[in-house]
Amino acid sequence: MLTRSDLSATEPDLAALLAARPALAMHVQDGLCFEDVPLNAIADAFGTPVWVYGAATIRARYADLQTAFSDAGLPVHIHYAVKANDHLAILSVLAKAGAGADVVSQGEFARAMAVGIPASGIVFSGVGKTRAELAAALSAGIGQINVESAEELAMLSEVATSLGRTARVALRMNPDVDAGTHAKITTGLAGNKFGISAPDILPLYAHAAALPGIAPVGIALHIGSQILSPAPYAAAYSKAASTVRALRQAGQQVSVLDLGGGLGIGYRDEPGISLAAFAQVVRREAGELGVQLLLEPGRYLVGPAGLLLASVILQKQTAQKRFLVLDAAMNDLLRPSLYDSYHGMLPVSAVDFVKPVSPTDVVGPVCESGDIFAAGRALPDLAENARLAVLDAGAYGAVMSSPYNARPRAAAVLLDGGHFHLITPRQRLDNLWADEILPGLR
Ligand code: LLP
Repeated sequence: MLTRSDLSATEPDLAALLAARPALAMHVQDGLCFEDVPLNAIADAFGTPVWVYGAATIRARYADLQTAFSDAGLPVHIHYAVKANDHLAILSVLAKAGAGADVVSQGEFARAMAVGIPASGIVFSGVGKTRAELAAALSAGIGQINVESAEELAMLSEVATSLGRTARVALRMNPDVDAGTHAKITTGLAGNKFGISAPDILPLYAHAAALPGIAPVGIALHIGSQILSPAPYAAAYSKAASTVRALRQAGQQVSVLDLGGGLGIGYRDEPGISLAAFAQVVRREAGELGVQLLLEPGRYLVGPAGLLLASVILQKQTAQKRFLVLDAAMNDLLRPSLYDSYHGMLPVSAVDFVKPVSPTDVVGPVCESGDIFAAGRALPDLAENARLAVLDAGAYGAVMSSPYNARPRAAAVLLDGGHFHLITPRQRLDNLWADEILPGLR
């Protein structure tokens, strides 16, 4: 399905991209600044490519989400989806703001615990958790496990019983709703691997209540990611609410509704999903249920709070077109290659920012034609070493990066109160093989 974010007809110009992002500003002398810090200062200090994250932006977005729900009279617990950006510094900003965590692996669980998020404030999601992962989470006292199948429920009961623990369980419902997003990030359709169909929830919940080591507490859903309209949420939550009522009629206790994540952001100059409209949908569909509401946002909180700062290696003119080859590539930011996703790009220099533009393919140096950030993007001529900011890369950026082509992982910097902190040094070349074992060969 084609979504708003796939339509190139609505491509914003550089000024529109800038105007839509309150944390960015262009200064005549300093060039592009993020949270009042000149990006040139960061590139000078640490080189490129470098991820730059803004703590104030994360805090503001967290507060906006909380306000939208408190304005709608809905108490909500925000469990940040760690997969969007699992850097300890980012987790720490969110933990200090009061967030719990939504994790999908033992590694994410350990990361969340490492910044002081209590196990009781962590939800474990995912379609395949190993026995070892379940055991580790239960032993640490995890708050909730979202179970996605009868098979997993049986496994969890065995693991919990063997540890003498009781797992607080939400059953993840697959509401069979089209979230209207990219096929690779839609999760709530009947044909997807995720969740349990609504009719199957009722008998499985009763079964769960009777199983040793299991305490069913509620229903969870997550219908997809980068959702820009409240409509699919309304359809999904309406089905979830019906299921909660049916469960209660059948004599079951239901005290939790985990609403999932998926709140979409504006990657061009369009607004993201309306938080007020989203909260009203929750209120309308689930406000009367008297359940504890949980949210699992990832992208919404951190996506616009990060950018990838790159430098131009060279500009290459062929008979067909102009290529801008950056020192960042698909191994750093995979989203354009994987989902054809759009990321805004802004020159860092104020001089470059006002130059005339022409269509440019922005690519990385990796040896694949798929290593492309944008095709035919309207950009100015950029000389060697000119800097370019790839916007809205705070979610599903660094976490999906790899050292493919033996390219060291990029450095990362956190901005906080006008200062910048190095939070990941650039990977050293000899660290590329530091974990490898060279056997004694014949
Ligand atoms: N909860 C569950 C169970 C999830 O599977 C996800 C994301 C979230 C919450 C958070 O979703 P968010 O609020 O961030 O949309 N790599 C893709 C996105 C994959 C999302 C996977 N699940 C991308 O770059 O667009």
